[in-house]
Amino acid sequence: MEPIYAALLGFLLGSVPFGLILTKAAGFGDVRDIGSGSIGATNVLRTGNKGLAAATVLLDAAKGAVPVLLTGQFLPGTEGIAAVAAVAGHCFTPWLKFKGGKGFATAAGVLLALAWPVMLVCAAIWAATLALSRISSVSSMTTVVAAPLVGWAMGYPAIALPLIAIAAIVLVQHRANIGRLLKGEEPKVGSKK
Ligand code: G3P
Repeated sequence: MEPIYAALLGFLLGSVPFGLILTKAAGFGDVRDIGSGSIGATNVLRTGNKGLAAATVLLDAAKGAVPVLLTGQFLPGTEGIAAVAAVAGHCFTPWLKFKGGKGFATAAGVLLALAWPVMLVCAAIWAATLALSRISSVSSMTTVVAAPLVGWAMGYPAIALPLIAIAAIVLVQHRANIGRLLKGEEPKVGSKK
């Protein structure tokens, strides 16, 4: 039963749509009606409120880290399941008809709790790709694809499989971004489109 408990815990915590809750509470309406339609921090930033976007990153990351830490404590061996479930909960939240965000901030929180040294290297990859491309989706996708390889190379083979599953979810959620990138229409960070 432990894997099922871990999956439920991760999915339920991951499903809390903080970006939507915060933007509504701050009087910006429904974040799904602007930009990419995502409930994630990049889209929250398109409201023009940086503080709200920062709060969304922190809360979306926390809801990934918390189930990993809790399962590490109480259901050892199921952290990877909780990790994948948290990202899936964010992307396919039952509170929003199984739609949601793209999973990157939640994946970052998960990785911080699973293996923080790997997270540090991935943060550097994210920052470098964002500085070079100025496109959030490019840096998110590059980082999630790199993460399992970085984990493996740094001596954390046990996290490679959950990170591959998370990368698959995050890439699927970026399908519209990939389409825009191919057409040269993906907005740069800071643009309100
Ligand atoms: O982390 C999310 C980012 O990769 C893309 O967000 O709103 O530009 O589709 P968005």
